[in-house]
Amino acid sequence: QHFLLPANRSLPPVVFHWMPVIGSVISYGRDPVNFFLQCREKYGDIFTIILLGRRMTVALGPAGNRFILGGKSTIFNAEDAYKHLTTPVFGKDVVYDVPNHVFMEQKKFLKFGLTGENLRVYVGMIEDEVHQYLQTDQAFLSLKTLSSDEYGSFDVLKVLEEITILTAARTLQGREVRDNLDKTFSTIYKDLDGGFTPLNFLFPNLPLESYRRRDRAQKKMSQFFINIIQKRRTSSSHGENDMISSLLGQKYRDGRALRNHEIANMMIGLLMAGQHTSASTGAWALLHVAYNRNVADSLYEEQLEFFCTKGGVFRSMTYEELKKLPLLNAVITETLRLHPPIHSIMRYIREDVLVPSSLNDIFTVPRGHYALASPAVSQMDPHIWKSPQTWDPYRWIDSDFVSSSFSGLKKGTESVFQPFGSGQHRCIGEQFAYVQLGTIIATIIREVELRRDNGVPRPNYQTMITCPREPRSIFYRRRTHQ
Ligand code: HEM
Repeated sequence: QHFLLPANRSLPPVVFHWMPVIGSVISYGRDPVNFFLQCREKYGDIFTIILLGRRMTVALGPAGNRFILGGKSTIFNAEDAYKHLTTPVFGKDVVYDVPNHVFMEQKKFLKFGLTGENLRVYVGMIEDEVHQYLQTDQAFLSLKTLSSDEYGSFDVLKVLEEITILTAARTLQGREVRDNLDKTFSTIYKDLDGGFTPLNFLFPNLPLESYRRRDRAQKKMSQFFINIIQKRRTSSSHGENDMISSLLGQKYRDGRALRNHEIANMMIGLLMAGQHTSASTGAWALLHVAYNRNVADSLYEEQLEFFCTKGGVFRSMTYEELKKLPLLNAVITETLRLHPPIHSIMRYIREDVLVPSSLNDIFTVPRGHYALASPAVSQMDPHIWKSPQTWDPYRWIDSDFVSSSFSGLKKGTESVFQPFGSGQHRCIGEQFAYVQLGTIIATIIREVELRRDNGVPRPNYQTMITCPREPRSIFYRRRTHQ
């Protein structure tokens, strides 16, 4: 113990483990949410787990979320927790490679790029990409040859990964990225993504080929964006609705414009933040929809009701209309409740900190620990939600979703529903994700009927982002009439 605890204070209990340094890494890695629920039974809402020598203090529930995610960045620090993972992938001088106040300015620049005006344009672009994908991708080729009562099948995560990158490239990333997706870009992206794994988080530097590939890919990807930026700076064409165009017009508070490599590396950060999170949410949503045929039918009816013209064909949705579709949005929200892509949010504790009395008034968390919040736990807590393990989008429509013993849903850092995090580091991609996912799901539902008979797969927690395990195929058939 490196410091003197106040007389009435102690350290949070350490979860029992057999192996000294390794600690609870196996139970945590296998199923973190269940592991936390079991620890809570024994130790309460705050406890420390050992993970490969690191001491991680986990704080659960609304008060735990608030303690960690609402904490000051000078104490609960994100850079110290994530930098060794993100800097080799995103590159220098952005996000966690700079002091918090600089990143907060960069985050504001990114927010400026996600205006309602841009999102409005994106809906049609996303519809178009998904439509084209269904016409041309290998997985859906049988759409043309199958009769109306025959089913084809596809791996839902693979398809959603592809559609997510196609649609993000077409919209946020911009024309040049979209045009290169089948060429240079995809190989570099693959190598970079291969360096953004739990292994890279746990061991920042290993003498492995995948680490060397990651480093080479980072340089190439950064240069790829720098070339685009240089061309854009010298060309007279303006008015693109993408992020590069927006970042080119931004300035730091001291009046300095963003440098080429800063814009490039922010674009990489954006790509990594939005890709697997959206793809896995889309995959889970379609799996549940395909398994719950009544929801699938009602989603299709919602599309018919709002967008089917007198001639019997669908017209495009507008951004405003999309935002107001009750069932489609409830499907996304309920999927994020039951399958939040990020199960653990980490901070590094820079100064000893007293645990607030709303959580527990006898503990202090010392400098050098990590803090871990898991909003996933409160999103599935049986004390809070009715039938928490049941995927039921209607709970968001009937607004009768919490258990009668639970008193009130709070907002912000104390909310029991925060798949996008909360506080200073809260996600800026929420609106974009809803537009992207809503348009993808609606376009697929319009064109094919989905079906899955054998339940929904279990989650895989071994990847950075929680995704459905294999087999995760969905059957589809052509819609015959509207
Ligand atoms: C932060 C979830 C999509 C950009 C976060 C955080 C969560 C999250 C939980 C907080 C991390 C922390 O506190 O350490 C999600 C989910 C998504 C999604 C569930 C989709 C379903 C996106 C997209 C973008 C994006 C599409 C970009 C367009 C960011 C950024 C941050 C962030 C820039 C800020 C990180 C920070 O301040 O430290 N996201 N995200 N996200 N996300 Fe997302």
